[in-house]
Amino acid sequence: MSQDLIYRPRRLRRTEALRQLVQETQLRVQDLIYPLFVLEGENQRQEVESMPGCYRYSLDLLLKEVEEAAQLGIPAVALFPVVPEEKKDPTGRECFNPEGLIQRCVRRIKQEIPEILVVTDVALDPYNSDGHDGIVRDGVILNDETVEILVKQALSQAEAGTDIVAPSDMMDGRIGAIRQALDDQGYTDVAILAYSAKYASAFYGPFRDALGSAPKSGDKKTYQMDPANAREAIKEAELDEAEGADMLMVKPALAYLDIIYRIKESTDLPVAAYNVSGEYAMIKAAEQKGWIDGKKVMLESLLAMKRAGADIILTYFAKEVALILKA
Ligand code: PBG
Repeated sequence: MSQDLIYRPRRLRRTEALRQLVQETQLRVQDLIYPLFVLEGENQRQEVESMPGCYRYSLDLLLKEVEEAAQLGIPAVALFPVVPEEKKDPTGRECFNPEGLIQRCVRRIKQEIPEILVVTDVALDPYNSDGHDGIVRDGVILNDETVEILVKQALSQAEAGTDIVAPSDMMDGRIGAIRQALDDQGYTDVAILAYSAKYASAFYGPFRDALGSAPKSGDKKTYQMDPANAREAIKEAELDEAEGADMLMVKPALAYLDIIYRIKESTDLPVAAYNVSGEYAMIKAAEQKGWIDGKKVMLESLLAMKRAGADIILTYFAKEVALILKA
C-alpha cells in the first residue's frame, strides 16, 4: 500500500549522484588556513603530546612543511612561536624584535614559497612572562599600554612581509590602532583577520601546551568573552569591522556554530572559524581509542562550520583534509 504523498524528500537522497547534485555546502581545500608551531634551532620536529600529528618545527623543517601545504593547495599558514623563557618579559617586547623567530620565519617563507599566504598572530602571550595576551600590572591586564605594543608587533610582522595580521588578544581598540599604523607606514595591502569573538575557552589547553604559553596566574576572562554571550559577539564584530578589519573570526568553532551563523548574518565581510586545539585533540583521542571514525568526524565537523557560515577555517587538520579531498 503506498502512501499518498506529494513530497518524498528521500527521492533526492536515492543515489550518490543525486546527493551530490543537491549538496548545499562544500568543504574546499581553498578555504583552509593551516596553523603551525615554530621553535628555535635546527632539524627540530617535536610532536605536541596533546595534539598527535601536530609538531613544533624549527625554521628549516617548517619550510618543508609549508612547501607540502602549498603543494596540496592550502592557501595559507598561520604561525605561532615557542619563545624561550629567557626571552620573555612583562611587556613581551621580543614580539617586535625584527630578528625574532616569527619575523625570520615570515621572511624565509615569503622568499622561498611566495605563493602561500602567511598569517601572523598579534598577541603577547607567547612572549609575555605572565603568559597573558596583554601587559599585567597588579593582576590587571592593561588595555591601552598593550595596544601600543601590539601595534609595534603588527608593524614588525608587516615589515617582515606577512600577508595577514591576526590580532587574537581581545584588547579594545586594537584593530583601529593597527590599521592606522599599517596605513601610516605604507602597509596598506596587509590585511587584518580580527579574532572578533574569541571566548575564554577551555578548548585552548593543548595549544598552550604546544607553546608553553599558559597564564602564570589568573585566567583570561577579563578580555576573552564569556561563553554564555552571543549578542556581545555581534557587538565585538561590529566594532572590529568599523575599525577596519578585513575578515572576522569566531573562536572556538564547534561549540560556537550559532555565533558563526549570527556574525555571518550581520556582516558582509568574510567570516573565519578557528577549529581550535582542544577540538582537534578530542577527535584524535577518541580515534586512537577506536571509539569514533576520526576522519569522518573531522570532515563532518568542518562541514558543519561551513554550513554555519564560515568562509574560512583555521584547522590543524588542513593537510589531512587536503589529502582526502585531492584523492
Ligand atoms: C593566543 C592564542 C590562543 C590560541 C590562538 N592564539 C590561546 C589563548 O588565547 O590562550 C588558541 C588556538 C588553539 O587552541 O588552537 N593569543
